[in-house]
Amino acid sequence: MTTPRTIVVTGSASGIGEATANLLASEGWEVIGVDARDADVVADLATDTGREAAIAGVRRLCPDGLDAVVASAGINRPMESPRIVAVNYFGAVRLLEGLRPLLVKSNAPRAVAVSSLACTMEVEQAVVDACLADDEDTALTAAAVRPEAFARQPIIYCSSKAALTLWARKASTSPEWGGAGILLNVVAPGVVRTPLTAPDLADPERARVLLGRADRALPDLGRPEAIAHLIKCLVSAENEFMLGQVLFADGGAEALRRPQHI
Ligand code: NAI
Repeated sequence: MTTPRTIVVTGSASGIGEATANLLASEGWEVIGVDARDADVVADLATDTGREAAIAGVRRLCPDGLDAVVASAGINRPMESPRIVAVNYFGAVRLLEGLRPLLVKSNAPRAVAVSSLACTMEVEQAVVDACLADDEDTALTAAAVRPEAFARQPIIYCSSKAALTLWARKASTSPEWGGAGILLNVVAPGVVRTPLTAPDLADPERARVLLGRADRALPDLGRPEAIAHLIKCLVSAENEFMLGQVLFADGGAEALRRPQHI
């Protein structure tokens, strides 16, 4: 019998994280959920204190190592809130980095950052730059400079996801990640039916746009289970050769938007 693989899933209480945790648990994986609520490790990934508590909590549960980490916890509202950057970028990156010493103990370590199709859209460059410079205070300040504009469009969300994607692309080939045999990839979903998108789908005007076919090749929105299956492929030991990639799981939205981009 093979030893079950152990995985940490952040955002495990809902949506994509929950679907991933359920899928892997049903297949015999040891799943450690990390979330602000209803999880094995309850912690607020928006703050350094919470992130450190999350890392310490995981370390207590699996001191001998960890096979995979999926960073799925994320928020998109209020649209102008700098907290989006704190959770989506610094919450994800600090957790991934903080759990890396446990990952290197595995003989087939894998990691996935859950980004978004939004990473291809308009950003506030100062936010992205400060994230990539690992300067959270400056990133949060930059995310607060134009609240009226940021309240109208998801620029802060897009910035957090662009920065996360760029960070993962670069980190994946570094000595600490790829060089240490840890395969780090990015999943970038389009619109998926979860509690995160429920407010949009409850708004008739927004729902008409989201459910329309203009931005997608496939007729319907995504299901969290579909994203979970993709994540499973990436965190499995059988993924032996792919790292640093951004997999758009979006019904064809990215390919429609930029067909010349390879
Ligand atoms: P969701 O709202 O269903 O689940 C997010 C989970 O993250 C919740 O359980 C929540 O408690 C947790 N969380 C939020 N803030 C936290 C914090 N400060 N500390 C700890 N846990 C926290 O959202 P969903 O849809 O499952 O999204 C998961 C990821 O997928 C997010 O990163 C989101 O940006 C991304 N995504 C979602 C899409 C969608 O259409 N649903 C599309 C593209 C990306």
